[in-house]
Amino acid sequence: MKLSKMTALLAMSVAMPAMATELEVTHWWTSGGEAAAVAELAKAFDASGDKWVDGAIAGGGGTARPIMISRITGGDPMGATQFNHGQQALELVEAGLMLDLTDVAEANNWKEIVFPPSLLEACTVDGKIYCAPVNIHSPEWLWLSNKVYEDLGIPVPTNWDEFVATAPQVDAAGKIPLALGNQPWQSNLAFGAMQIAVAGIDAWKAVNVEKNMDVAAGAEYAKVFAAAAAARELARKSTVQDWNQATNLVITDEAAGQIMGDWAQGEFQVAGEVAGKDYTCLPGLGLNQYISTGGDAFYFPKLDDPEKEAAQKRLAAQLVSPEVQVAFNLKKGSLPIRGDVDLSAANDCMKKGLEILAGGNILPAGDMVWSPDVQKQAEDLMVEFWKSEMPAEEAHTKWVEILKTGL
Ligand code: BGC
Repeated sequence: MKLSKMTALLAMSVAMPAMATELEVTHWWTSGGEAAAVAELAKAFDASGDKWVDGAIAGGGGTARPIMISRITGGDPMGATQFNHGQQALELVEAGLMLDLTDVAEANNWKEIVFPPSLLEACTVDGKIYCAPVNIHSPEWLWLSNKVYEDLGIPVPTNWDEFVATAPQVDAAGKIPLALGNQPWQSNLAFGAMQIAVAGIDAWKAVNVEKNMDVAAGAEYAKVFAAAAAARELARKSTVQDWNQATNLVITDEAAGQIMGDWAQGEFQVAGEVAGKDYTCLPGLGLNQYISTGGDAFYFPKLDDPEKEAAQKRLAAQLVSPEVQVAFNLKKGSLPIRGDVDLSAANDCMKKGLEILAGGNILPAGDMVWSPDVQKQAEDLMVEFWKSEMPAEEAHTKWVEILKTGL
């Protein structure tokens, strides 16, 4: 080894605190906006003297989650891992594979500060807390390119109905009316957004919370399937795969709109676009404004290593801390999981989200009310529906059958 390199290494080892513990952290944040956000988490962890070893898994949550789960069940656990709020890690917790964070939660008053309380409830199994919530993401937004409409000389739509009504003009101008990626979860997300926008909040709750299968099979939901069949035509010209490629079609004004979660904001931000000026965001597709409290939480597999366990607990506490909440969520486009932080730097879209949250117009996320199995079956059906000519009535009947398997 050259002397200069040795000196550099020596200097580094002197500068590093003695207790730096490496933790591999897996997640599926690989788009430009997501990478910028996760870098904030890594930066904070490293600055506090530990070492974040980034374990990004490309391909979205649908690809990443089975890999994460099989590593944990197969004896190759990481130090920490992302899952969505809800039941995705429930079986791992029940199998005794995940670290109990109740002491961290108590020491840091999570019960008093985490808002809405449903986020911490989703981490709680048999009275013990197994995850650190990091954000609130609402999946049901419509993102619009202002320029597409300005070029057509028509006002930017203010809701889904106006979007559909103006789609023929967008189409005739050679643009893609609706950008939609091919990853299976994206068509399911679009359908989920249309459920609340078209059927309304009461019908949504009746089906998804109260599990009323008569409402699921009824007229309100027939309207949702009819709307989804119409939306399917608007997405025909969209051939991209990843969600952020679809967002990019809106950013580059190739497509008029995309139904996507508020993580899309990270992409607009990285591209230097300004909310309200370059693009428009419509929560609840502009028809029923609400925030469904999905998003992300970190879980910590048991490692049988006291030093690593201490670092896992330090990371858990840090993820919920005010500083990290602000730095991370501003980049991620998500809302913080605590109301006592300063988000004055939030852009117009985040402010809309914060207002809805403060007004209490919130719903649980799909992962909180249906098991991963039901979610997966519904996702498969939606992929088939959006990519084929399956009649709306047939998809509706099949969907109700799937929900019934989860009762
Ligand atoms: C996560 C977001 C993420 C999105 C797309 C969602 O499941 O909650 O944090 O940005 O997937 O990767």
